[in-house]
Amino acid sequence: MELILEKVRNLKGNISVPGDKSISHRSLILGSIAQRETRIYNFLSSLDCLRTLECMRALGVEIKRSSNNSLKIKGKGLYGLQESKDILDVGNSGTTIRLLTGLLSGQDFYSILNGDDSIRKRPMKRVVEPLRSMGADIWGRKDGHFAPLSVRGNKLNPLHYTLPIASAQVKSALLLAGLYATGETVIREPLSTRDHTERMLEIMQADIKISPLEIKLMGGKELRGTDIFIPGDISSAAYFIAAASVLEGSQITIKQVGVNPARTGIIEMLNKMGAKIDTLNYQIKSNEPQANLKVECSELKGIEIKKEKVPLLIDELPLLAVVATQARGKTVVSGAKELRVKETDRIRAIVSELKKMGADIEEKEDGFIVEGPSKLKGVVCESYNDHRIVMSLAVAALLAEGKTVIKNTECIDISFPGFKDTLQKLI
Ligand code: S3P
Repeated sequence: MELILEKVRNLKGNISVPGDKSISHRSLILGSIAQRETRIYNFLSSLDCLRTLECMRALGVEIKRSSNNSLKIKGKGLYGLQESKDILDVGNSGTTIRLLTGLLSGQDFYSILNGDDSIRKRPMKRVVEPLRSMGADIWGRKDGHFAPLSVRGNKLNPLHYTLPIASAQVKSALLLAGLYATGETVIREPLSTRDHTERMLEIMQADIKISPLEIKLMGGKELRGTDIFIPGDISSAAYFIAAASVLEGSQITIKQVGVNPARTGIIEMLNKMGAKIDTLNYQIKSNEPQANLKVECSELKGIEIKKEKVPLLIDELPLLAVVATQARGKTVVSGAKELRVKETDRIRAIVSELKKMGADIEEKEDGFIVEGPSKLKGVVCESYNDHRIVMSLAVAALLAEGKTVIKNTECIDISFPGFKDTLQKLI
């Protein structure tokens, strides 16, 4: 399906965005292995999260869905999952395959995980190696570098581990395995990454100690099911925040967006560029901060983003490249090599498509350099079957002279079903 967009004058109005993707995955997994019932509100019914839901069902968990994005999970307790009779299909979801590899490492049965072409190209050794050192038997192509992965769970030893790369998916996989270890697992991270797993473990009464860059988790303690209210996904809100920041005369409010400090890098960086983003009605629900975000257009200038900040806005960097084309001066992003191993090589994808649109952007091994401002023109763009590339290009299309056609945009539903309708509301 093609997405065809033209230049717009500005964005105005109030919207909300669907639930947070990372928190939705975690609520399903942790709700399934907690005792008693977990009710989830504002669950993200996107393709990725529905893959996790189907995997948990295949592992014997009863999950009821109601039409308004609420879920009821009958928790099985730590030791109640059952072997799936079939392969667990994670589709396009890196979060599903990595977190489940951790979870399944602690189960006394055999599992096979597979996904689409993109998943089979993504690095898995980062979870496989530390999980093997805890005692799990894991096989995969190229000695466990690539899916399909098969996992024979075992009694696990606790792990003391410093992550070689800043990755919340790896951290979460190891914490899930750590729930099954005979003793205390200690995970250190080189830089802060999203901490939704730790926060949810805390409200489910895990034996967990969280300090900056270090988590200690005692294995063997049952979790307690709870009610989880999922905030709007800041990564989805980001497309509208960015577009409103650069389209003259725009003023929008996005309600109840998750503003966990490990996710607000995009707001921090846009503010540094000169954007006007106000955080209103701040509150904490289910151990996660949320707020209404009010955004107005303003003049932006180029900035430098280095490695330390990258995990705080990793998924928003392609979008930031689009914003940078409208900012005065140079924007330099470095230390972001991880972008090359996401759903697609996001550095190559965004640089090549923005170049076609007339941007002054240069590809670097670990990031990109944009010189702005430049006038964009509408062209035919590839999607790389990557939801974040499509939605970033959609923002570029709103700024470009003439018509932009983005090909193969079905992948939007990976994280943001309803994106087009929400955008239409603001135009
Ligand atoms: C995610 C973590 C990030 C992010 C991904 C979702 C998560 O990946 O890019 O979209 O839910 O833990 P890494 O932790 O591998 O960087």
